[in-house]
Amino acid sequence: MTTTITICDTCKLEGWDAATSDQTDGERLAADIERAAQGNPDVQTRRHSCLMGCSHGCNIAIQADGKLTYVMGRFEPGAEAAEGIVEYATKHAASEKGQVPFREWPQAVKGHFVSRIPTLPNAD
Ligand code: FES
Repeated sequence: MTTTITICDTCKLEGWDAATSDQTDGERLAADIERAAQGNPDVQTRRHSCLMGCSHGCNIAIQADGKLTYVMGRFEPGAEAAEGIVEYATKHAASEKGQVPFREWPQAVKGHFVSRIPTLPNAD
């Protein structure tokens, strides 16, 4: 089953300045994640404006039907974060219920978890 990475494309890190930036930090992270996920059959990406975690952006969510949802934040755009997020999503896709063992977590996602949301009862 495919796992979807939802990326907030309106997140702005402290110091972001419209006068000097033509993209938000969220747009930059989204582009990095889209690049890292290209050709990966287990992961889809989508952009969404504001996941309501604005004070601790950049934010993303990892979701799949019938599996635990994970919200993560405090990312800075860049290949390292993007590749770690895509690696984690690929492991989420391979898991039965969305749980990825800690020993398999990519370094880039450690310390970035904001919340874990259980599946709805009728989705089990
Ligand atoms: S702008 Fe990204 S969570 Fe609100």
